Amino acid sequence: MRLGDPPSPEELDPIERVSPDELAALQLERLRWTLGHAYDNVPLYRRKFDEHGVRPADCKELSDLARFPFTTKQDLRDSYPFGMFAVPRERVARVHASSGTTGQPTVVGYTRRDIDIWAEVMARSIRASGGRPGDLVHVAYGYGLFTGGLGAHYGAERLGCTVVPVSGGMTPRQVRLIADLRPDIIMVTPSYMLALLDEFDAQGLDARACSLRIGIFGAEPWTEEMRREIEDRFDLHAVDIYGLSEVMGPGVANECVESKDGLHIWEDHFYPETVDPFTGAPADAGELVLTSLTKEAMPVIRYRTRDLTRLLPGTARPAFRRMEKVTGRTDDVIILRGVNVFPTQIEEVVLRTPGLSPHFQLHLTRPGRLDEMTVMVEARPGFDLREGRDEAAQALCAAVKETVGVRVDVQVVDPETLERSVGKLRRVIDKRDN
Ligand code: DLL
Repeated sequence: MRLGDPPSPEELDPIERVSPDELAALQLERLRWTLGHAYDNVPLYRRKFDEHGVRPADCKELSDLARFPFTTKQDLRDSYPFGMFAVPRERVARVHASSGTTGQPTVVGYTRRDIDIWAEVMARSIRASGGRPGDLVHVAYGYGLFTGGLGAHYGAERLGCTVVPVSGGMTPRQVRLIADLRPDIIMVTPSYMLALLDEFDAQGLDARACSLRIGIFGAEPWTEEMRREIEDRFDLHAVDIYGLSEVMGPGVANECVESKDGLHIWEDHFYPETVDPFTGAPADAGELVLTSLTKEAMPVIRYRTRDLTRLLPGTARPAFRRMEKVTGRTDDVIILRGVNVFPTQIEEVVLRTPGLSPHFQLHLTRPGRLDEMTVMVEARPGFDLREGRDEAAQALCAAVKETVGVRVDVQVVDPETLERSVGKLRRVIDKRDN
């Protein structure tokens, strides 16, 4: 594999080299500022803190944060569009918005300084991924209200890279640009990277021979098996980037290329906790809860991300805790005859089954009183379906039963028959009536 050298200590931001104690002192100072800023300027926070009987001044240690109330997606919806802003709208330099596919859209805002810090943590993320000033970066995250494209763009510029702002879609042109401009880095959802791979094949181009050294993949859950698949097929380093618009966008956490062992959370700006998703009590593994430490326009206090993960101690950046790759969202879980199933669990098994490609969908139906799930999965190109279709289906069915613990139906379909994503992937097709 070509090099994706980790940065040397001199290349890191000074903050990336601090001791845990120094980081904690900075976090406490910033947390106290954030709580005061939210309480003084956002009526929703003032009301919630008052109802909870806590004041910003009650936060004397980092652990006191647990005394403050959570903030939820619903709070943001109720404040639509600008009710969560802690500065006058005129001081907001930019807004982004969530797509609203799961309900009412939510709007988020940034001051100039917020955008500056976002660029800084994105630059840090790209460098942690092995990127360097002067690298050519192909950005295929969508530009617009989605935070992916512009977040990646500003970060790559800040690091001193050359940016190709392609956005999502027009897949043949993306491949043409990769072949002609010879980027070092691609920033894209892992599912769209697979669609680009199909297009390399369609154009008769060898993806392994392309110029890409590093892929920075996020915005949707993906597994170690998918990492191996993409790394093998493109001969590059695949690293994971995490973020969400409510907290900022991409760049809340990023893997380091030298360790690829979970995502270092940039804790000088985002303070993480994990809680039991049902009770809200602190838990080692559970729902990630994030508090912004420096955001001016839209501070978030104990935001319930709904993303499931586990916090681990720092490795490549010792002071910064890591989060495990996200398994899924609390609202992505499929309950099949009492067993919780995440699409990522199926992804792991599909990718370990010979003859099957990473392209699959989960169809949910309710023929009687119980839910059923059918895994529709494409065979790999070149796989002999006449001979192997039944065997591959049975192998997947047995492997899901063994590792996930549920019986599913499997349909192995021809290559290139399932819909491809251009941005975030829709894995689950819910055909249940209610
Ligand atoms: O997806 C921001 C982003 C853009 C992150 C580009 C990374 C790269 P939203 O549209 O607000 O923002 O969606 C946020 O996407 O709560 C997770 O459920 C999911 N998500 C984001 N990154 C990852 C990841 C962007 N690396 C929601 N692994 C989050 C798993 C992810 N899920």
